[in-house]
Amino acid sequence: MKCGVFIASLSGFAVLCFGKVTFLHLNGVELVADTLSDYTTTDAYDCLRKCGMNSSCIAVQMATDVGICNLLTMVRNARNAMACDFFIKKERTVNIPGRSLTPLQQILQNAVYATQEACPEGWTDDGKTCTLAILQAECKNYAAFLGVTWDGTRCAIPRMNVTYSCPNSELTLKGFSNGYFCYAMILRGQLNGTIATMNDFCYNETGCYLASIHSEAENEFIASLRNSSLSNNAVIIGLESINGQVENATDFQWLDRTVLDYANFDDIGPLAEGMYTFPYPIMSMSNKWLAYFDVSALKFSMLSTSMICKCNANAEYSTTT
Ligand SMILES: *[C@@H]1O[C@H](CO)[C@@H](O)[C@H](O)[C@H]1NC(C)=O
Ligand SMILES: *[C@@H]1O[C@H](CO)[C@@H](O)[C@H](O)[C@H]1NC(C)=O
Ligand SMILES: *[C@@H]1O[C@H](CO)[C@@H](O)[C@H](O)[C@H]1NC(C)=O
Ligand SMILES: *[C@@H]1O[C@H](CO)[C@@H](O)[C@H](O)[C@H]1NC(C)=O
Ligand SMILES: *[C@@H]1O[C@H](CO)[C@@H](O)[C@H](O)[C@H]1NC(C)=O
Ligand SMILES: *[C@@H]1O[C@H](CO)[C@@H](O)[C@H](O)[C@H]1NC(C)=O
Repeated sequence: MKCGVFIASLSGFAVLCFGKVTFLHLNGVELVADTLSDYTTTDAYDCLRKCGMNSSCIAVQMATDVGICNLLTMVRNARNAMACDFFIKKERTVNIPGRSLTPLQQILQNAVYATQEACPEGWTDDGKTCTLAILQAECKNYAAFLGVTWDGTRCAIPRMNVTYSCPNSELTLKGFSNGYFCYAMILRGQLNGTIATMNDFCYNETGCYLASIHSEAENEFIASLRNSSLSNNAVIIGLESINGQVENATDFQWLDRTVLDYANFDDIGPLAEGMYTFPYPIMSMSNKWLAYFDVSALKFSMLSTSMICKCNANAEYSTTT
């Protein structure tokens, strides 16, 4: 990756995509951030892929000349510099009323509020203010527009008033530790097809996609959305087999390309000859994820009569008065 050219324009950063994770190549910009971890590699793509697979990773510094990939978190500032080794994840746009930002400041604000909560990720929220126990010198590194102050012992940032909503009234809003999302359970009807067909159907019916699941709490919530008046109410979820293998967590990925950071597969033993691999994995009646079964034991089409669709909630920021 050759650099050397100082790019003064800040809006036209090169974009690199890994699944649904997009990175902006910050040419002419350096980031001030904490290191999550680092390792030796000369492959920038490998560095970005590692960051893409870890939800705490917000950016990377790929020092190609020394062969070190730094995974970055807690981004504090983004400023013009003779640097071309920083990449940042493209996050949803966070608009905070009363702030008029340059394109680079907007990228930074999106990164700081990537979890779309009242406080940036990792800060302590006491309901009134957001605080962080770091050194005063580190606190001063935050970009001025973020309104960060030193309260004598800790770093403080204004607590935001965030109102979450769903794109339509069919959807149910729910917040988890990794953010706020909208969900709907819909009936499959007579539709048959692949997991991609089901995903399309979710989109056509709700504007969302087959759900990914990232915690026990979310798994329980999704289970609770099931139609209890159906005798067989297993639901299709957004899991797909990577290589046609269906035995363990490493064989699967989420259709929405979020990280498989929580797994709840049914322990039904190794896939034996004669067993039936489902056209799409489901959450079974025991709330476990199931991708194959003894074919004689069930009629799949009867089992998965519905599916769970999910999308990001809208987050509207206003400053707390
Ligand atoms: C992200 O990386 C950090 C540091 O290596 C690690 O502690 C954490 O568990 C990782 N998180 C995920 C979701 O992989
Ligand atoms: C889907 O499959 C089920 C079960 O095999 C069948 O009854 C139904 O007619 C099929 N639907 C369509 C649209 O072909
Ligand atoms: C979704 O909608 C598109 C456009 O109307 C249509 O072509 C497609 O067949 C639909 N897919 C499903 C699975 O409903
Ligand atoms: C639940 O299933 C029943 C029986 O099939 C159906 O009449 C009803 O519309 C379903 N409810 C929802 C919310 O889909
Ligand atoms: C997952 O299954 C594959 C075979 O399909 C096996 O090679 C691999 O070791 C298994 N991984 C774990 C973590 O059990
Ligand atoms: C937060 O925002 C909502 C919606 O704009 C508003 O009704 C509420 O009064 C605000 N609360 C505070 C404490 O600013």
